[in-house]
Amino acid sequence: MSMLVRLLPLAALASVGASPISSNHLSGRLVHPHINRNHQARSNIETRGDTSYVPPSVNLSSVQPNSAINSASYHNLSDQLPLILKNAVSISNHSWELGTLVETLLEVYNPELTPFGWNPNVANCDTSQVPWAALQIALASLYETDWTGAPSSGGTGANSSSSLQGLANYLNSSTSPTALTGATLIDGDGALGDPCSLGSGVWVLAQFCTRDDVRNALGAKSGEAYAWAVGNQLQHMESGTRNDNGTISQREGYFELWSDMGFMIPPFPAYLGLSTGNQALLNISLAQWLLESSALLDTTVNIFRHINDWDARLWATGNGWMLYGAVRLLASVQSYSDSGSITDSAVRSAATQIQDTLPSVFTALFNQLDNDSLVPDYMNQPNVTLAIGDSSGTALTVAAFYRFLSVCSTASVSDSVKSLASKAFDGVVAQIDSNGWLGNHKFCETLQQLPMIDSSTCVVDPLGTNGWVVYPESNIRSPEGQSFVGLMWAARTAVGI
Ligand SMILES: *[C@@H]1O[C@H](CO)[C@@H](O)[C@H](O)[C@H]1NC(C)=O
Ligand SMILES: *[C@@H]1O[C@H](CO)[C@@H](O)[C@H](O)[C@H]1NC(C)=O
Ligand SMILES: *[C@@H]1O[C@H](CO)[C@@H](O)[C@H](O)[C@H]1NC(C)=O
Ligand SMILES: *[C@@H]1O[C@H](CO)[C@@H](O)[C@H](O)[C@H]1NC(C)=O
Ligand SMILES: *[C@@H]1O[C@H](CO)[C@@H](O)[C@H](O)[C@H]1NC(C)=O
Ligand SMILES: *[C@@H]1O[C@H](CO)[C@@H](O)[C@H](O)[C@H]1NC(C)=O
Ligand SMILES: *[C@@H]1O[C@H](CO)[C@@H](O)[C@H](O)[C@H]1NC(C)=O
Ligand SMILES: *[C@@H]1O[C@H](CO)[C@@H](O)[C@H](O)[C@H]1NC(C)=O
Ligand SMILES: *[C@@H]1O[C@H](CO)[C@@H](O)[C@H](O)[C@H]1NC(C)=O
Repeated sequence: MSMLVRLLPLAALASVGASPISSNHLSGRLVHPHINRNHQARSNIETRGDTSYVPPSVNLSSVQPNSAINSASYHNLSDQLPLILKNAVSISNHSWELGTLVETLLEVYNPELTPFGWNPNVANCDTSQVPWAALQIALASLYETDWTGAPSSGGTGANSSSSLQGLANYLNSSTSPTALTGATLIDGDGALGDPCSLGSGVWVLAQFCTRDDVRNALGAKSGEAYAWAVGNQLQHMESGTRNDNGTISQREGYFELWSDMGFMIPPFPAYLGLSTGNQALLNISLAQWLLESSALLDTTVNIFRHINDWDARLWATGNGWMLYGAVRLLASVQSYSDSGSITDSAVRSAATQIQDTLPSVFTALFNQLDNDSLVPDYMNQPNVTLAIGDSSGTALTVAAFYRFLSVCSTASVSDSVKSLASKAFDGVVAQIDSNGWLGNHKFCETLQQLPMIDSSTCVVDPLGTNGWVVYPESNIRSPEGQSFVGLMWAARTAVGI
């Protein structure tokens, strides 16, 4: 590291605590002028706060590496993964962190329940595979769900396939046996999109809770109750603020787009569409992703902007969110086609359009890798502090890339981009410490030689309390970053290169 780079963060230290802007997904307690505090359906949430989530105690077993992969860092990561995910479980508590965590646990331990390894038999609960950890976290995440009006939560004798099929009726107000209320699954603290990230995980919970043994072991409500809660979340999303071309807003009550929403919103209806054989839901998800992309992709550089208005800069994690959301959609379409044909030509052409958008974005991002093989936190801007490599956003980008190679095996991606992705994978693994925490350790180690720096981890501040900056001196840990490492491992394991 040059002296210049070593010294600049000390200047940043002085700015900590100065004029906070809105946190990432939260209106938080720090009110940004853009935040509209009038949540129509959630007015009772403000007083409740988000303090009562309690991480459940879960068992995370060791993982089976893919022996075809010839990479020392991949095999090192395989050994460390349970610890990394245990850390994720211990610090995740915001809506999108929990949604990302449940998705990660499914991708790592129960891929058949995700679009990437889809097996309708497992999703229909007719094998012995129960995704306990994911179910426990999905259940714990519902700590503040409003159950007023829910279908009866007693045992409904529901261990039957007819009941399982019936769950889909709760996803549409015109067929729901119990009136939908449009309540969210969890407080999004001003974000319309973030609570949607839990939707697919709670849908899995609903399905498994049609089994008496699972429901009893979890001490959970009926499958119908969770299906109804997912229907409410879907209704809440569909009735949210939109602009005139129909793009759903990431924020409640006013229109604003964040690249984060690529992962939060579209994959939710896509998963429900895949699970219930509903092309209209797939169609909605693909159309929303394309609309988000049309507003956020800077086509002069092929990198996504962070926010459509007040932070139009090119943010690493935001690009990861958009890309990972896209590959979940493409996998949903592919898995849907595997078990029944896509008859809606709008779905097919939207999928092609998404597939065609991605290669140039991957190329642009991997061409940005810094000397530590990390994507800079913010790209193409002169501020050295903002350009520090971010291991979290890099992990999600690499995860999306390996998924893209699996799902779109015929897409043209050059060998040089593949080689850069593998370097970025190594770069991320190099930033994981022996206790399973993701950070930016090389950078920190350099800083530790300076007086007043005694932290051991550093990663982009995921809440953006003072801007989405990597503060090497602040000992920040990233709940989402811990999960992204799991997504990256699962993606590479699946592609096998
Ligand atoms: C990256 O490495 C190159 C070549 O070793 C060096 O010239 C450059 O200063 C390094 N950049 C940073 C930011 O350390
Ligand atoms: C660079 O970004 C940091 C973090 O936001 C900020 O504190 C600093 O003032 C910026 N420096 C310049 C020269 O704009
Ligand atoms: C959420 O988890 C973080 C650790 O990631 C912790 O610092 C914070 O206190 C928790 N917040 C609440 C409201 O429980
Ligand atoms: C975790 O595993 C231990 C030992 O096998 C077992 O006693 C415990 O009940 C398990 N906990 C959960 C939550 O599954
Ligand atoms: C793998 O882990 C070992 C010991 O934990 C370490 O010495 C080695 O450098 C690691 N290799 C890579 C490529 O990360
Ligand atoms: C909900 O049901 C109505 C009436 O059957 C139908 O027109 C609409 O497409 C359905 N919505 C979704 C998302 O499936
Ligand atoms: C429910 O279904 C599962 C899977 O088919 C089966 O293993 C379990 O024994 C059933 N439980 C009851 C109480 O029927
Ligand atoms: C899918 O969306 C397109 C417009 O984006 C529409 O023309 C088509 O009817 C939709 N298909 C279904 C099955 O809803
Ligand atoms: C939709 O509207 C946004 C502005 O809110 C715009 O940036 C985007 O290009 C539009 N997309 C399409 C496909 O019309």
